[in-house]
Amino acid sequence: MTHFPKDFLWGGAVAAHQLEGGWDQGGKGISIADVMTAGGNGIPRRITDGVVEGENYPNHEGIDFYHHYREDIALFGEMGFKAFRTSIAWTRIFPNGDDAEPNEEGLAFYDDMFDACHEQGIEPVVTLQHFEMPYHLATEYNGFADKRCIDLFERFARVCFERYKGKVKYWMTFNEINNQSAAPIAHHMLQEGAVLNIGDNPEELMYQASVNELLASAKAVKACHEIDPDAQIGCMIAFCPLYAHTCDPKDQLEKTWADHKRYWYCDVHAKGRIPEYMFRYWERMGFDIDLSDEETEVLKDGIVDYIGFSYYMSFAVAAREDNPDYNFYEAGIPGLESVANDLVPNEFLKVSDWGWPIDPLGLRYALNWFYERYDQPVMIVENGFGAYDKVEEDGSIDDSYRIDYLREHIRAMMDAVEKDGVNLLGYTMWAPIDIVSASSGEMDKRYGFVYVDKNNAGEGTLARSPKKSFFWYKKVIETNGADLD
Ligand code: BG6
Repeated sequence: MTHFPKDFLWGGAVAAHQLEGGWDQGGKGISIADVMTAGGNGIPRRITDGVVEGENYPNHEGIDFYHHYREDIALFGEMGFKAFRTSIAWTRIFPNGDDAEPNEEGLAFYDDMFDACHEQGIEPVVTLQHFEMPYHLATEYNGFADKRCIDLFERFARVCFERYKGKVKYWMTFNEINNQSAAPIAHHMLQEGAVLNIGDNPEELMYQASVNELLASAKAVKACHEIDPDAQIGCMIAFCPLYAHTCDPKDQLEKTWADHKRYWYCDVHAKGRIPEYMFRYWERMGFDIDLSDEETEVLKDGIVDYIGFSYYMSFAVAAREDNPDYNFYEAGIPGLESVANDLVPNEFLKVSDWGWPIDPLGLRYALNWFYERYDQPVMIVENGFGAYDKVEEDGSIDDSYRIDYLREHIRAMMDAVEKDGVNLLGYTMWAPIDIVSASSGEMDKRYGFVYVDKNNAGEGTLARSPKKSFFWYKKVIETNGADLD
């Protein structure tokens, strides 16, 4: 007998800035993603001082989903998607973030996009802030370093909840809010919180901005519950299992602390309070984090309804001789910055062409980790394989490596549900159609079931064509995961 839920939300996930394009259309303002240049495999993206002529900004056009969304959503419908995760570009609704009135053209765009989803029987799953805050909030406020952004975010969230009530049942507040606890700190502080100036003590400022974002998230959760009691609102954590390198207790303690430092955000989202270990750390470091009693109460009202997380890879941590208190942990994104510190290579795992360790069983570990810790429903809102695809002479694309990656991860996910009893709402793989990579700005780092004819240099017709994996995933959904071959 199978325990896999019949109403499971199979689908795919993207983010507005990585596919919409139309960066200056429909009254949209400039977002932080619009001032990020293309990087490359191992080459970080640069942040320019405003939009500079002659620079290559891949997000400006994305894959022009802005003009192709009905066609693309129809392809998702053909695969049988039950859910489509995307984000609302804040700058389409409030072009500068602090405008007096929302932009009707932007609101209408998402109205029609969500209608297009429902016409295909697809439930939209929507993130409010996915690395695309208004650039104006970065330059004029220094983003979430400034507490005024808390209320600006709440206002943006309220406008969305009021407008899309009944159309959107699943919300998320901040995408991968916890990435900023990893290096490169400046890049992440900008992506997650539009913090442009990281000052003299970036770590302290990172914690302040994080606290402010968590307050903004809590206010949005409360607003969502008030405005649409039928909706569910979750958080979104970037999860990489942190395995202890050996069974040496020192490595285990190092792992425990690494979990604290990387995942304390989830404690706040799911328990409504900042964990004591974090206060102790700030005290030890001499960090002066501004959090009033009133704000502590705000966090209590911000408990999420489910935990959304992304899963791509795992890491191994080893204790350091110079870290007797086990309170040091630093990590980065492989390939983007040298990951030294207390991360060590995991000899049991292979890595992708971008150096990302491939660990399907880690997904089962992740699901158990979340479920036993928080006792809340979970949703896998990102999981996928970035790879170089080759188009054959006849136009076909054999991406069997992507199928292999997804098959093993889905198998592990199903085991977590069937054998371990995890309450899992859905699986939205990343990304059903080729889009701009967030970390590198490349087009040639492809995740899709649907190929998009566009390369790193921005050349191509933007034509869409299904890869081998398109037909494979269609069958997976049709059989509710029973046929993974
Ligand atoms: C997640 C982000 O970190 O990973 C996405 O939420 C991102 O925005 C995805 O695209 C894959 O990363 P990348 O850098 O390969 O695009």
